[in-house]
Amino acid sequence: MQVQENFSLKEYHTFHTSTMARYAAFFSNQEELKELATFQNGNINQIILGGGSNVLFTKDFDGIVLINKIPGIEIIKETEEYVFINAGAGVPWVTFVDYCVQNNFGGVENLSLIPGSTGASPMQNIGAYGVEIKDVFFELEAYHTKDNYLKTFSAAACEFGYRESVFKKKWKGQFVILNVTFRLNKKPLYNISYHALEQELEKQHATSLSIHLISETVKRIRQSKLPDPERIGNAGSFFKNPVISKELLLEAAEKNKIEVPHFPIDECLYKVPAGWLIEQCGWKGYRKGDAGCYQKQALVLVNYENAKGIEIFNLSTDIIDSVYKKFGIWLEREVNILH
Ligand code: FAD
Ligand code: EPU
Repeated sequence: MQVQENFSLKEYHTFHTSTMARYAAFFSNQEELKELATFQNGNINQIILGGGSNVLFTKDFDGIVLINKIPGIEIIKETEEYVFINAGAGVPWVTFVDYCVQNNFGGVENLSLIPGSTGASPMQNIGAYGVEIKDVFFELEAYHTKDNYLKTFSAAACEFGYRESVFKKKWKGQFVILNVTFRLNKKPLYNISYHALEQELEKQHATSLSIHLISETVKRIRQSKLPDPERIGNAGSFFKNPVISKELLLEAAEKNKIEVPHFPIDECLYKVPAGWLIEQCGWKGYRKGDAGCYQKQALVLVNYENAKGIEIFNLSTDIIDSVYKKFGIWLEREVNILH
Protein backbone atom coordinates (compact mmCIF):
# COMPACT_ATOMS: atom_id res chain seq x y z
CA MET A 1 0.00 0.00 0.00
CA GLN A 2 1.65 3.15 -1.21
CA VAL A 3 0.34 6.67 -1.69
CA GLN A 4 1.14 7.91 -5.19
CA GLU A 5 1.33 11.59 -6.04
CA ASN A 6 0.01 13.25 -9.24
CA PHE A 7 -1.88 10.15 -10.25
CA SER A 8 -3.69 9.92 -13.60
CA LEU A 9 -7.27 8.69 -13.09
CA LYS A 10 -7.92 8.18 -16.82
CA GLU A 11 -7.93 4.36 -16.57
CA TYR A 12 -9.73 4.32 -13.20
CA HIS A 13 -13.07 5.76 -14.28
CA THR A 14 -15.18 4.82 -17.28
CA PHE A 15 -15.63 8.33 -18.72
CA HIS A 16 -11.85 8.15 -19.23
CA THR A 17 -11.38 11.92 -19.09
CA SER A 18 -7.79 13.06 -18.49
CA THR A 19 -8.19 13.81 -14.80
CA MET A 20 -5.40 13.93 -12.24
CA ALA A 21 -5.61 13.21 -8.53
CA ARG A 22 -3.19 14.89 -6.17
CA TYR A 23 -2.81 11.55 -4.37
CA ALA A 24 -4.13 8.02 -4.89
CA ALA A 25 -3.74 4.65 -3.21
CA PHE A 26 -5.22 1.15 -3.44
CA PHE A 27 -6.49 -0.75 -0.40
CA SER A 28 -7.33 -4.44 -0.03
CA ASN A 29 -8.58 -4.66 3.55
CA GLN A 30 -9.95 -2.63 6.42
CA GLU A 31 -6.56 -2.09 8.10
CA GLU A 32 -5.10 -0.52 4.97
CA LEU A 33 -8.17 1.67 4.57
CA LYS A 34 -7.92 2.77 8.20
CA GLU A 35 -4.32 3.82 7.70
CA LEU A 36 -5.11 5.69 4.48
CA ALA A 37 -8.08 7.46 6.04
CA THR A 38 -5.65 9.25 8.38
CA PHE A 39 -3.32 10.33 5.55
CA GLN A 40 -2.38 13.97 6.31
CA ASN A 41 -4.40 13.54 9.54
CA GLY A 42 -7.56 13.15 7.49
CA ASN A 43 -7.43 16.91 6.69
CA ILE A 44 -7.64 16.36 2.95
CA ASN A 45 -10.52 15.58 0.59
CA GLN A 46 -11.09 11.85 0.23
CA ILE A 47 -13.08 9.86 -2.24
CA ILE A 48 -13.58 6.12 -2.62
CA LEU A 49 -13.59 4.62 -6.08
CA GLY A 50 -14.61 1.14 -7.09
CA GLY A 51 -14.72 0.76 -10.86
CA GLY A 52 -15.32 4.49 -11.46
CA SER A 53 -18.34 3.64 -13.62
CA ASN A 54 -20.74 6.11 -12.03
CA VAL A 55 -18.65 9.24 -11.56
CA LEU A 56 -17.78 12.34 -13.57
CA PHE A 57 -14.82 14.48 -12.54
CA THR A 58 -15.35 18.08 -13.68
CA LYS A 59 -11.75 18.98 -12.79
CA ASP A 60 -8.59 17.50 -11.27
CA PHE A 61 -9.15 16.08 -7.79
CA ASP A 62 -7.32 17.97 -5.08
CA GLY A 63 -7.23 15.25 -2.47
CA ILE A 64 -6.70 11.52 -2.11
CA VAL A 65 -8.53 8.90 -4.18
CA LEU A 66 -8.80 5.55 -2.39
CA ILE A 67 -9.35 2.69 -4.80
CA ASN A 68 -11.13 -0.33 -3.38
CA LYS A 69 -9.60 -3.74 -4.14
CA ILE A 70 -11.06 -5.79 -1.23
CA PRO A 71 -11.33 -9.36 -2.64
CA GLY A 72 -13.26 -12.53 -1.83
CA ILE A 73 -16.49 -14.39 -2.51
CA GLU A 74 -17.67 -16.80 0.20
CA ILE A 75 -20.79 -18.81 0.96
CA ILE A 76 -21.54 -18.09 4.60
CA LYS A 77 -24.85 -19.90 5.15
CA GLU A 78 -27.27 -22.19 3.35
CA THR A 79 -30.88 -23.16 3.96
CA GLU A 80 -33.11 -25.35 1.84
CA GLU A 81 -34.27 -22.33 -0.16
CA TYR A 82 -31.44 -19.84 0.03
CA VAL A 83 -27.71 -19.41 -0.13
CA PHE A 84 -26.11 -16.43 1.62
CA ILE A 85 -23.00 -15.17 -0.14
CA ASN A 86 -20.61 -12.54 1.11
CA ALA A 87 -18.50 -10.62 -1.41
CA GLY A 88 -15.63 -8.20 -0.81
CA ALA A 89 -16.44 -4.66 -1.91
CA GLY A 90 -13.65 -4.66 -4.49
CA VAL A 91 -14.93 -7.72 -6.35
CA PRO A 92 -16.11 -6.62 -9.82
CA TRP A 93 -19.89 -6.89 -9.96
CA VAL A 94 -19.70 -8.91 -13.19
CA THR A 95 -17.44 -11.47 -11.45
CA PHE A 96 -19.99 -11.84 -8.66
CA VAL A 97 -22.90 -12.23 -11.10
CA ASP A 98 -21.01 -14.74 -13.25
CA TYR A 99 -20.17 -16.76 -10.11
CA CYS A 100 -23.88 -16.89 -9.18
CA VAL A 101 -24.95 -17.78 -12.72
CA GLN A 102 -22.36 -20.57 -13.00
CA ASN A 103 -23.48 -22.04 -9.67
CA ASN A 104 -27.16 -21.68 -10.56
CA PHE A 105 -27.87 -19.30 -7.67
CA GLY A 106 -30.82 -17.17 -8.75
CA GLY A 107 -31.55 -13.47 -8.29
CA VAL A 108 -28.83 -11.42 -9.98
CA GLU A 109 -28.97 -12.79 -13.55
CA ASN A 110 -31.01 -9.75 -14.71
CA LEU A 111 -28.18 -7.56 -13.39
CA SER A 112 -25.59 -9.12 -15.70
CA LEU A 113 -22.92 -6.94 -17.27
CA ILE A 114 -23.40 -3.88 -15.05
CA PRO A 115 -19.89 -2.48 -14.62
CA GLY A 116 -18.35 -1.47 -11.31
CA SER A 117 -17.63 -3.02 -7.95
CA THR A 118 -19.82 -5.10 -5.65
CA GLY A 119 -19.21 -2.54 -2.89
CA ALA A 120 -20.77 0.26 -4.91
CA SER A 121 -23.84 -1.79 -5.86
CA PRO A 122 -25.87 -0.74 -2.79
CA MET A 123 -24.89 2.93 -3.20
CA GLN A 124 -27.55 3.56 -5.83
CA ASN A 125 -29.38 0.24 -5.45
CA ILE A 126 -28.31 -0.77 -8.95
CA GLY A 127 -31.09 -2.00 -11.16
CA ALA A 128 -31.80 -3.37 -14.60
CA TYR A 129 -34.39 -5.44 -16.45
CA GLY A 130 -36.94 -5.52 -13.64
CA VAL A 131 -34.59 -6.33 -10.74
CA GLU A 132 -32.85 -4.14 -8.18
CA ILE A 133 -30.14 -5.12 -5.78
CA LYS A 134 -32.54 -4.61 -2.88
CA ASP A 135 -34.34 -7.78 -4.07
CA VAL A 136 -31.34 -9.96 -3.15
CA PHE A 137 -29.61 -7.82 -0.55
CA PHE A 138 -29.18 -9.22 2.98
CA GLU A 139 -26.72 -6.90 4.79
CA LEU A 140 -23.45 -5.03 4.43
CA GLU A 141 -20.56 -4.04 6.61
CA ALA A 142 -19.18 -0.51 6.37
CA TYR A 143 -16.41 1.49 7.99
CA HIS A 144 -16.85 5.05 9.22
CA THR A 145 -13.57 6.64 8.18
CA LYS A 146 -13.71 9.73 10.39
CA ASP A 147 -14.89 8.16 13.64
CA ASN A 148 -13.17 4.82 13.09
CA TYR A 149 -15.97 2.31 13.70
CA LEU A 150 -17.66 -0.55 11.87
CA LYS A 151 -21.40 -0.79 11.31
CA THR A 152 -23.65 -3.47 9.85
CA PHE A 153 -26.54 -2.20 7.73
CA SER A 154 -29.67 -4.30 7.17
CA ALA A 155 -31.76 -3.76 4.03
CA ALA A 156 -34.13 -1.49 5.98
CA ALA A 157 -31.21 0.59 7.29
CA CYS A 158 -29.98 1.12 3.71
CA GLU A 159 -33.27 2.89 2.82
CA PHE A 160 -33.16 1.67 -0.77
CA GLY A 161 -35.16 3.53 -3.39
CA TYR A 162 -34.98 3.97 -7.17
CA ARG A 163 -31.23 4.65 -7.69
CA GLU A 164 -31.10 5.74 -4.03
CA SER A 165 -29.82 4.61 -0.65
CA VAL A 166 -28.94 6.12 2.71
CA PHE A 167 -25.31 6.28 1.47
CA LYS A 168 -26.27 8.96 -1.07
CA LYS A 169 -28.27 10.92 1.49
CA LYS A 170 -27.77 10.98 5.27
CA TRP A 171 -24.43 9.12 5.25
CA LYS A 172 -23.07 10.60 2.01
CA GLY A 173 -19.28 10.31 1.90
CA GLN A 174 -19.03 8.95 5.45
CA PHE A 175 -19.01 5.17 5.24
CA VAL A 176 -16.88 2.91 3.10
CA ILE A 177 -18.67 -0.32 2.24
CA LEU A 178 -16.28 -3.22 2.96
CA ASN A 179 -18.37 -6.25 2.03
CA VAL A 180 -21.93 -7.14 1.06
CA THR A 181 -23.99 -10.25 1.83
CA PHE A 182 -26.64 -11.34 -0.67
CA ARG A 183 -29.43 -13.90 -0.33
CA LEU A 184 -29.72 -15.90 -3.55
CA ASN A 185 -32.40 -18.42 -4.46
CA LYS A 186 -31.55 -22.08 -4.81
CA LYS A 187 -34.87 -22.61 -6.59
CA PRO A 188 -34.82 -19.91 -9.22
CA LEU A 189 -37.73 -17.50 -9.61
CA TYR A 190 -37.39 -16.00 -13.06
CA ASN A 191 -38.28 -12.35 -13.60
CA ILE A 192 -38.94 -11.60 -17.25
CA SER A 193 -41.44 -8.80 -16.66
CA TYR A 194 -39.27 -6.14 -18.36
CA HIS A 195 -40.69 -5.65 -21.84
CA ALA A 196 -37.38 -5.64 -23.76
CA LEU A 197 -36.27 -8.85 -22.00
CA GLU A 198 -39.56 -10.64 -22.66
CA GLN A 199 -39.41 -9.57 -26.32
CA GLU A 200 -35.83 -10.74 -26.79
CA LEU A 201 -36.64 -14.14 -25.23
CA GLU A 202 -39.64 -14.49 -27.54
CA LYS A 203 -37.44 -13.72 -30.53
CA GLN A 204 -35.18 -16.61 -29.54
CA HIS A 205 -38.18 -19.01 -29.27
CA ALA A 206 -36.87 -20.07 -25.88
CA THR A 207 -38.86 -23.13 -24.77
CA SER A 208 -37.63 -23.14 -21.17
CA LEU A 209 -36.02 -20.53 -18.99
CA SER A 210 -32.79 -20.82 -17.06
CA ILE A 211 -30.60 -18.45 -15.08
CA HIS A 212 -27.94 -18.82 -17.73
CA LEU A 213 -30.35 -18.01 -20.58
CA ILE A 214 -31.62 -14.87 -18.86
CA SER A 215 -28.09 -13.72 -18.12
CA GLU A 216 -26.98 -14.24 -21.73
CA THR A 217 -30.12 -12.51 -23.06
CA VAL A 218 -29.64 -9.49 -20.81
CA LYS A 219 -25.99 -9.28 -21.90
CA ARG A 220 -27.05 -9.33 -25.55
CA ILE A 221 -29.64 -6.55 -25.09
CA ARG A 222 -27.17 -4.40 -23.18
CA GLN A 223 -24.43 -4.86 -25.78
CA SER A 224 -26.84 -3.84 -28.53
CA LYS A 225 -27.62 -0.43 -27.06
CA LEU A 226 -25.04 0.61 -24.47
CA PRO A 227 -21.54 1.77 -25.48
CA ASP A 228 -18.62 -0.30 -24.21
CA PRO A 229 -16.72 2.09 -21.89
CA GLU A 230 -13.43 0.60 -23.05
CA ARG A 231 -14.19 2.01 -26.51
CA ILE A 232 -16.33 5.06 -25.80
CA GLY A 233 -16.14 6.70 -22.37
CA ASN A 234 -19.48 6.79 -20.50
CA ALA A 235 -21.09 6.07 -17.15
CA GLY A 236 -24.32 4.39 -18.28
CA SER A 237 -27.51 6.40 -17.81
CA PHE A 238 -26.47 9.95 -17.04
CA PHE A 239 -29.90 10.89 -15.68
CA LYS A 240 -32.57 9.11 -13.65
CA ASN A 241 -35.93 8.43 -15.21
CA PRO A 242 -38.14 11.15 -13.69
CA VAL A 243 -41.02 10.12 -11.47
CA ILE A 244 -43.84 12.65 -11.88
CA SER A 245 -47.46 13.29 -10.93
CA LYS A 246 -50.41 12.58 -13.21
CA GLU A 247 -51.07 16.34 -13.53
CA LEU A 248 -47.54 16.99 -14.77
CA LEU A 249 -47.74 14.04 -17.16
CA LEU A 250 -50.99 15.38 -18.67
CA GLU A 251 -49.61 18.93 -18.89
CA ALA A 252 -46.45 17.74 -20.70
CA ALA A 253 -48.58 15.77 -23.18
CA GLU A 254 -51.05 18.60 -23.74
CA LYS A 255 -48.33 21.23 -24.24
CA ASN A 256 -46.64 19.15 -26.96
CA LYS A 257 -49.71 17.47 -28.44
CA ILE A 258 -48.02 14.12 -28.04
CA GLU A 259 -48.51 11.01 -25.93
CA VAL A 260 -45.75 10.85 -23.33
CA PRO A 261 -44.75 7.21 -22.55
CA HIS A 262 -45.10 6.38 -18.87
CA PHE A 263 -45.15 3.49 -16.40
CA PRO A 264 -47.29 3.65 -13.25
CA ILE A 265 -45.38 3.52 -9.94
CA ASP A 266 -48.52 3.78 -7.80
CA GLU A 267 -51.93 5.44 -8.12
CA CYS A 268 -50.50 8.97 -8.34
CA LEU A 269 -46.96 8.68 -9.71
CA TYR A 270 -45.56 7.74 -13.12
CA LYS A 271 -42.05 7.02 -14.33
CA VAL A 272 -41.22 8.63 -17.68
CA PRO A 273 -38.30 7.38 -19.80
CA ALA A 274 -35.74 10.18 -19.75
CA GLY A 275 -34.17 8.77 -22.94
CA TRP A 276 -37.43 9.46 -24.77
CA LEU A 277 -37.68 13.03 -23.41
CA ILE A 278 -34.07 13.75 -24.42
CA GLU A 279 -34.59 12.26 -27.87
CA GLN A 280 -37.74 14.38 -28.36
CA CYS A 281 -35.64 17.47 -27.65
CA GLY A 282 -33.33 16.53 -30.54
CA TRP A 283 -30.22 15.60 -28.55
CA LYS A 284 -29.84 11.96 -29.59
CA GLY A 285 -26.61 11.63 -31.59
CA TYR A 286 -25.62 15.25 -30.79
CA ARG A 287 -21.88 15.85 -30.57
CA LYS A 288 -19.89 18.95 -29.67
CA GLY A 289 -16.16 18.36 -29.79
CA ASP A 290 -15.70 14.99 -28.12
CA ALA A 291 -18.68 15.25 -25.75
CA GLY A 292 -21.93 13.78 -26.99
CA CYS A 293 -25.29 12.15 -26.48
CA TYR A 294 -25.06 8.52 -27.62
CA GLN A 295 -26.79 7.78 -30.92
CA LYS A 296 -28.33 4.46 -29.77
CA GLN A 297 -29.41 5.54 -26.26
CA ALA A 298 -30.07 9.21 -25.54
CA LEU A 299 -29.81 8.69 -21.77
CA VAL A 300 -26.10 7.98 -22.09
CA LEU A 301 -23.62 10.86 -22.42
CA VAL A 302 -20.29 9.94 -23.93
CA ASN A 303 -16.67 11.00 -24.21
CA TYR A 304 -15.61 10.10 -27.76
CA GLU A 305 -11.96 10.66 -26.91
CA ASN A 306 -10.66 13.84 -25.39
CA ALA A 307 -13.69 15.57 -23.91
CA LYS A 308 -13.14 17.36 -20.62
CA GLY A 309 -15.33 16.43 -17.66
CA ILE A 310 -16.66 19.98 -17.53
CA GLU A 311 -17.76 19.78 -21.20
CA ILE A 312 -19.79 16.66 -20.45
CA PHE A 313 -21.21 18.33 -17.35
CA ASN A 314 -22.16 21.46 -19.36
CA LEU A 315 -23.83 19.30 -21.99
CA SER A 316 -25.88 17.64 -19.23
CA THR A 317 -26.97 21.08 -18.00
CA ASP A 318 -28.08 22.08 -21.51
CA ILE A 319 -30.08 18.84 -21.79
CA ILE A 320 -31.76 19.40 -18.41
CA ASP A 321 -32.70 22.96 -19.44
CA SER A 322 -34.09 21.96 -22.81
CA VAL A 323 -36.17 19.06 -21.43
CA TYR A 324 -37.58 21.40 -18.81
CA LYS A 325 -38.39 24.05 -21.40
CA LYS A 326 -40.22 21.59 -23.67
CA PHE A 327 -41.92 19.32 -21.13
CA GLY A 328 -41.79 21.14 -17.77
CA ILE A 329 -40.05 18.04 -16.33
CA TRP A 330 -36.77 18.29 -14.40
CA LEU A 331 -34.16 15.62 -15.03
CA GLU A 332 -31.94 14.64 -12.14
CA ARG A 333 -28.38 13.42 -12.76
CA GLU A 334 -27.76 9.81 -11.79
CA VAL A 335 -23.99 10.01 -12.15
CA ASN A 336 -22.06 11.27 -9.11
CA ILE A 337 -20.51 14.62 -10.05
CA LEU A 338 -17.15 15.39 -8.47
CA HIS A 339 -16.48 19.15 -8.62
P1 FAD B 1 -17.82 4.21 -8.64
O1 FAD B 1 -18.15 4.92 -9.90
O2 FAD B 1 -16.40 3.91 -8.36
O3 FAD B 1 -18.45 5.03 -7.42
C1 FAD B 1 -19.77 5.49 -7.47
C2 FAD B 1 -20.08 6.21 -6.15
O4 FAD B 1 -20.05 5.28 -5.08
C3 FAD B 1 -19.04 7.27 -5.79
O5 FAD B 1 -19.71 8.30 -5.11
C4 FAD B 1 -18.09 6.54 -4.87
O6 FAD B 1 -17.42 7.40 -3.97
C5 FAD B 1 -19.03 5.60 -4.14
N1 FAD B 1 -18.42 4.33 -3.74
C6 FAD B 1 -17.85 3.41 -4.57
N2 FAD B 1 -17.47 2.33 -3.87
C7 FAD B 1 -17.79 2.57 -2.58
C8 FAD B 1 -17.65 1.83 -1.37
N3 FAD B 1 -17.10 0.62 -1.32
N4 FAD B 1 -18.10 2.39 -0.21
C9 FAD B 1 -18.66 3.63 -0.22
N5 FAD B 1 -18.82 4.37 -1.34
C10 FAD B 1 -18.39 3.85 -2.50
N6 FAD B 1 -26.16 1.23 -13.03
C11 FAD B 1 -27.36 0.64 -12.79
O7 FAD B 1 -27.93 0.77 -11.70
N7 FAD B 1 -27.97 -0.12 -13.76
C12 FAD B 1 -27.43 -0.30 -14.97
O8 FAD B 1 -28.00 -0.99 -15.80
C13 FAD B 1 -26.17 0.30 -15.25
N8 FAD B 1 -25.59 0.18 -16.45
C14 FAD B 1 -24.39 0.77 -16.71
C15 FAD B 1 -23.81 0.60 -17.97
C16 FAD B 1 -22.60 1.18 -18.27
C17 FAD B 1 -21.99 0.99 -19.64
C18 FAD B 1 -21.92 1.95 -17.28
C19 FAD B 1 -20.59 2.57 -17.58
C20 FAD B 1 -22.50 2.14 -16.03
C21 FAD B 1 -23.74 1.55 -15.73
N9 FAD B 1 -24.37 1.71 -14.48
C22 FAD B 1 -25.56 1.08 -14.21
C23 FAD B 1 -23.76 2.56 -13.44
C24 FAD B 1 -22.66 1.83 -12.61
O9 FAD B 1 -22.20 0.68 -13.25
C25 FAD B 1 -23.17 1.46 -11.22
O10 FAD B 1 -23.63 2.59 -10.52
C26 FAD B 1 -22.07 0.78 -10.38
O11 FAD B 1 -22.62 0.23 -9.21
C27 FAD B 1 -20.95 1.73 -9.99
O12 FAD B 1 -19.92 0.97 -9.38
P2 FAD B 1 -18.45 1.52 -9.29
O13 FAD B 1 -17.67 0.59 -8.45
O14 FAD B 1 -17.91 1.78 -10.64
O15 FAD B 1 -18.68 2.88 -8.52
N1 EPU C 1 -36.02 5.39 -25.19
C1 EPU C 1 -36.18 6.28 -26.23
N2 EPU C 1 -35.05 6.87 -26.75
C2 EPU C 1 -33.81 6.61 -26.28
C3 EPU C 1 -33.65 5.71 -25.20
C4 EPU C 1 -34.79 5.09 -24.66
O1 EPU C 1 -37.28 6.55 -26.67
O2 EPU C 1 -32.85 7.16 -26.82
C5 EPU C 1 -37.21 4.68 -24.65
C6 EPU C 1 -37.19 3.21 -25.11
O3 EPU C 1 -37.78 3.06 -26.36
C7 EPU C 1 -37.98 2.51 -24.03
C8 EPU C 1 -37.73 3.39 -22.80
O4 EPU C 1 -37.18 4.63 -23.25
O5 EPU C 1 -39.33 2.53 -24.31
C9 EPU C 1 -36.80 2.72 -21.81
O6 EPU C 1 -35.55 2.45 -22.44
P1 EPU C 1 -34.56 1.32 -21.92
O7 EPU C 1 -35.27 0.01 -21.78
O8 EPU C 1 -33.33 1.35 -22.75
O9 EPU C 1 -34.22 1.74 -20.43
P2 EPU C 1 -33.89 3.15 -19.79
O10 EPU C 1 -35.05 3.61 -19.00
O11 EPU C 1 -33.33 4.08 -20.79
C10 EPU C 1 -33.10 2.05 -17.56
C11 EPU C 1 -31.97 2.22 -16.60
C12 EPU C 1 -30.75 1.47 -17.09
C13 EPU C 1 -31.11 -0.01 -17.19
C14 EPU C 1 -32.27 -0.17 -18.17
C15 EPU C 1 -32.78 -1.58 -18.23
C16 EPU C 1 -32.27 4.32 -15.45
C17 EPU C 1 -31.82 5.71 -15.27
N3 EPU C 1 -31.67 3.62 -16.39
O12 EPU C 1 -32.72 2.70 -18.78
O13 EPU C 1 -29.72 1.61 -16.14
O14 EPU C 1 -30.01 -0.78 -17.65
O15 EPU C 1 -33.38 0.66 -17.74
O16 EPU C 1 -33.47 -1.87 -17.05
O17 EPU C 1 -33.13 3.85 -14.70
C18 EPU C 1 -27.88 2.98 -15.50
O18 EPU C 1 -28.47 3.19 -14.45
O19 EPU C 1 -26.74 3.43 -15.74
C19 EPU C 1 -28.51 2.15 -16.53
C20 EPU C 1 -27.95 1.89 -17.71
